[in-house]
Amino acid sequence: MSTITIKPIKKFNKTIIAPPDKSITQRAILFASLAPAGTKIVITNALLGLDCLSCIECVMALGAKADVDKSKKMITITSAPIKSAILNVGNSGTAMRLLMGMLSAQDGKTFTLDGDESIRNRPMGRVSELLEQMGAKISLTNGKALVAIEGAKLIGTNIKSPIASAQIKSAILLAGIQAKGVTSYTEPYKSRDHTERLLKYYGVPVKEENNTTTVSKSIIKSKNTHIVGDISSVAFPLVLAVALKDAKIRINSVGLNPTRCGTLEVFKAIGANFNIINEVKDYESFGDIEVEYIENLSPFTIDGDIIPRLIDEIPILAVLACFIKGTSVIRGAEELKVKESNRLDAVVDMLSAMGGKVEKTFDGMIIYGSGELKGGCMVDSKGDHRIAMATAIAGALSKEGVTIKNHECVSVSYPEFFNLFEE
Ligand code: S3P
Repeated sequence: MSTITIKPIKKFNKTIIAPPDKSITQRAILFASLAPAGTKIVITNALLGLDCLSCIECVMALGAKADVDKSKKMITITSAPIKSAILNVGNSGTAMRLLMGMLSAQDGKTFTLDGDESIRNRPMGRVSELLEQMGAKISLTNGKALVAIEGAKLIGTNIKSPIASAQIKSAILLAGIQAKGVTSYTEPYKSRDHTERLLKYYGVPVKEENNTTTVSKSIIKSKNTHIVGDISSVAFPLVLAVALKDAKIRINSVGLNPTRCGTLEVFKAIGANFNIINEVKDYESFGDIEVEYIENLSPFTIDGDIIPRLIDEIPILAVLACFIKGTSVIRGAEELKVKESNRLDAVVDMLSAMGGKVEKTFDGMIIYGSGELKGGCMVDSKGDHRIAMATAIAGALSKEGVTIKNHECVSVSYPEFFNLFEE
């Protein structure tokens, strides 16, 4: 059994570079394999976490050539005609769902998609049922992986999803750019738009109107792609800095896509003032963020359209709420139940074990913040990277620290995470 013990920290004053974005790196890898055969592209500042390595394995199994230069954080991909394959996406829900859309349009070829234990527990019907409206032939195992795809000729369709999910949207758009005619996708709230931005950057016309995105048959002209820093990873040190007395942090090259920056909206609302410096406008904008400890932050309520803009940051925002005196409320977050683990249960159990007063609701939680956590316990991440990292930050801010079981899963999204705690 692997464990790590995080002791309470007294001092935190650092300048770091943001880890590269997991969602965008995975998309750049997958989209490259759909570009016309022989297209060679270089992805710089790529995240080389486990989910991205799984994507690389998948595109190689589909026929592409991929070279990884770890020291330069660089991936070179040369596309090839897509061939039938058996794929293993590891822990990556993004890879699984985007590949379902990409491959269901590969007429005449067959694919089997599988992943780890966590992936085998996540719902895939939400993607296959919508793709089937376009003519896709997909069979699941009790609504989950194994996913078997028989590539077909797809027909452009107006698709409506009851869930605001960028993974579902991306699957439909990737099918749509290979389907006959026009495909539109409508979601209840706007989810992250990395696919739309990257497709446009690669020359694909994408129309966006309110919560509807429209594409038609197009060729992806992949080109060299620089990846910005991941706000979801950066949220962990940001919370540590605002909640620890006299702490301060500067994080360079953080992605500032408004569809991902719900955490910064919460920071503004609670009085955790931050500075953004050196902002660069690009297909994905980025800049440096500076923040320091602030006394007397206000409790917060999150609900509705902000949820997709901070969905992956809810575990660490729940930790922050414990260090703010007063009642914070998280609603409309039932999607957390079907992430890498049931994150509603995992967060409530973790914070309760650490001495926090937290009540689980059907779609979120209520946190009665006292301004401190006791800690002094052992918490199992159950293999969920964001639970491991949220627990570590909670432990560092607590009175007695925490021991985390199954901590290595941080390498899915933030392999250098534990370096944050080095003096
Ligand atoms: C992701 C979208 C989100 C997020 C996940 C990554 C993506 O999932 O939770 O970690 O890369 O598109 P949903 O689209 O299912 O909300």
